[in-house]
Amino acid sequence: MRAVTVRPSSADSLEVRDVPDPVPGDGELLVDGLAVGVCGTDKEIVAGDYGWAPPGEDRLVIGHESLGRVREAPRDSGFAAGDLVVGVVRRPDPQPCGACARGEFDMCRNGRYTERGIKERHGYASRSWTVESDYAVRLDPGLEPVGMLLEPTTVVAKAWEQVERVGGRAWFEPRRALVTGAGPIGLLAALLGVQRGLDVHVLDRVTEGPKPELVAALGATYHSADIGDVTSAIEPDVVIEATGAGSLVFASMAGTATYGVVCLTGVSPAGRKLSVDAGSINRDLVLENDVVVGSVNANLRHYRQGADALAKADRAWLERMITRRVPLERAAEAFTPQDDDIKVVITLT
Ligand code: BGC
Repeated sequence: MRAVTVRPSSADSLEVRDVPDPVPGDGELLVDGLAVGVCGTDKEIVAGDYGWAPPGEDRLVIGHESLGRVREAPRDSGFAAGDLVVGVVRRPDPQPCGACARGEFDMCRNGRYTERGIKERHGYASRSWTVESDYAVRLDPGLEPVGMLLEPTTVVAKAWEQVERVGGRAWFEPRRALVTGAGPIGLLAALLGVQRGLDVHVLDRVTEGPKPELVAALGATYHSADIGDVTSAIEPDVVIEATGAGSLVFASMAGTATYGVVCLTGVSPAGRKLSVDAGSINRDLVLENDVVVGSVNANLRHYRQGADALAKADRAWLERMITRRVPLERAAEAFTPQDDDIKVVITLT
């Protein structure tokens, strides 16, 4: 079977090659892969900066933003042949920490979790794959063209849940949200903010191409001005930071309304230095009861929330987020950036 593989920690090792056909174990589904989305993490893995092969192997099948169709399902699994499914990314650590033992593997405390296509488990970028039925999520059949957007949607569903839980420690009725970055995570965060009835603003560098139109189509407001000017004008109660760029991270922290919540979702490379006015940031956070919270990955509850959010969204809008589809044999092209790329997808059929 053909699969997209890399040798982790080696740059430019991407190779579409034959790997053994998957054999479903007890309680597992056998799934025909339809597509995988490509995100910043995949680009880092392909660049050799992130990612781990399964123990004892030297190559990793990549792909964690999955979509497939069930070919075979065990009786009593709750799934049937033909179901459209997405596989969950993370698995609990083998000797579960308190969080993993309670199904909150997205909050793993000891870092020994594993992730399909990222950390010590093969991913979903192959013609077929298996998945434990407990880690598969069924999607509305109408979502087939866009279902690989579920995984990034789960990441923002968790981020919004974090914001609401943190805000819920006292009276909290947020009205305005700022999303920094109009890539897939930023756009999906804006979608979920609009679905919550908030006045959503999105900030990105570009002034042309599909991003401003996609934001406007949501009924949100697009900005490409300096972040300080934007936060002064709109005083956001919530910021979802989706760039990982240090200057935007610190400007977000400084720019919220009183009792603001900033949720950081962007992973940045280490070693980038920035000079900040630490005194003024500390003072602002303390005097305003502000919170900055980091958020990564998603558990099964967030997969259900994400599936509901996608089912409610405008399908045509979701399709416009997918700006390029590349066939499996030409997977390398998905990693060569093109103007106006938002979500690039590798098709597996
Ligand atoms: C994935 C997450 C994962 C994180 C860290 C992200 O790209 O969407 O599921 O936990 O990378 O590996």
